[in-house]
Amino acid sequence: MSKIISIILPTYNEAENLYLIIPKIFNILNKSKIYAELIVVDDNSPDGTAEVAKKFLNKYPVKVFIRKNERGLGTAILKGLEVAKGEICLVMDADLSHPVEAISDMVKPIIENKADMTLASRYIKDGEFEGISFIRRIISKIAGLSARGLTNVTDPTSGFMGIKKSLLKGVNLKAASWKLPLEIIVKCNPLIKEVPIVFVNRHKGKSKFGLRASFRYLQHLLGLYCYRFPAIFEFIKFCIVGLIGLIIDTAVLVSAVELFSLDPRIAAIFAFMVAVTVNYFLNRFWTFKIGKFTIFRCSYPAFVSIRLLGLGIRIVTMDILMVFAGMGKGYLYLLASIIGIFVATIFNFIGSKYFAFSKLFLHNSKDEFE
Ligand code: GDD
Ligand code: MN
Repeated sequence: MSKIISIILPTYNEAENLYLIIPKIFNILNKSKIYAELIVVDDNSPDGTAEVAKKFLNKYPVKVFIRKNERGLGTAILKGLEVAKGEICLVMDADLSHPVEAISDMVKPIIENKADMTLASRYIKDGEFEGISFIRRIISKIAGLSARGLTNVTDPTSGFMGIKKSLLKGVNLKAASWKLPLEIIVKCNPLIKEVPIVFVNRHKGKSKFGLRASFRYLQHLLGLYCYRFPAIFEFIKFCIVGLIGLIIDTAVLVSAVELFSLDPRIAAIFAFMVAVTVNYFLNRFWTFKIGKFTIFRCSYPAFVSIRLLGLGIRIVTMDILMVFAGMGKGYLYLLASIIGIFVATIFNFIGSKYFAFSKLFLHNSKDEFE
């Protein structure tokens, strides 16, 4: 097998495990006649992990990178990918949870150009957990299911992957959490081959997985959904702007009535116009990428008309719910109003995105949006 391979081991406090895993890896490589360099990326582990790795420098093609001011599994892997000489990179944990025996099955499909990426799975035939707590398995399952909207692979949170390095060229990988393989899947859309593994409990030491890592994962996941489905991101921003509008609307209404003794009905119209105008500018400059390139004298009236229609939809929804769904009793009108706002928000978003801030009203010069 001629292609150069780089095996990347991110480490934090894995001194005891490195003594075992490094010789084990090179044993397997020799048996499978695979030539590979091993890159250890250590975040200045207090247990002397880097020193242990350095002990193998003369015996095997090992490189050790120590990051003094950075911490994080995802970015450690990115560092490894950056310095890797191999056309094919293999990333695995250093605690012997990932079977080194699977190395050959993880690289072969890429060498033979049958896949751009291999991902070890605990959920396909012959894949499983061994000695892992029930809680941890549930967490892993839920974490995997929550990524179902992004990929069909069976084990999206797997940390054991093989990748063609050329695939990553020019891709802006953030590694905002441990789940770099998932980010690569979303941003590079590789041809993936899943390889079954038995994921066993770590040999020595403690897992670094905790609440922080889970929280980071959720943030990362949201970012990946927004990357894959930009409209989701826009909608979230649109709702935030809508909320700001609601606060402004109420503030203007109350001050106009209380401070300037304006008739509440007149004040409501004035408040609506102020809120809609603020919303227009927030959506123009923040929510929609295309917004600031639209012609103001077109998109502003378009936006206001959408909002007026939206107001109408809110009132009609309320009316239907109050008359036909019994929400005219007691305080149920509030629920009818909230449902009305929700329906109107959906309409306002679609109207804003596909009409007010659409290519229809682009300045002629802005052909990059064509
Ligand atoms: N450099 C560096 N910096 N390495 C780290 C850091 C860090 O901040 N945190 C963890 N690592 C290394 C560990 O030393 C180990 O080699 C590997 O990353 C995995 O860390 P573990 O602490 O063993 O993670 P785990 O077993 O709980 O989680 C594994 O399974 C998850 C799926 O269930 C990992 O493979 C995860 O990536 C995977 O998502
Ligand atoms: Mn582990």
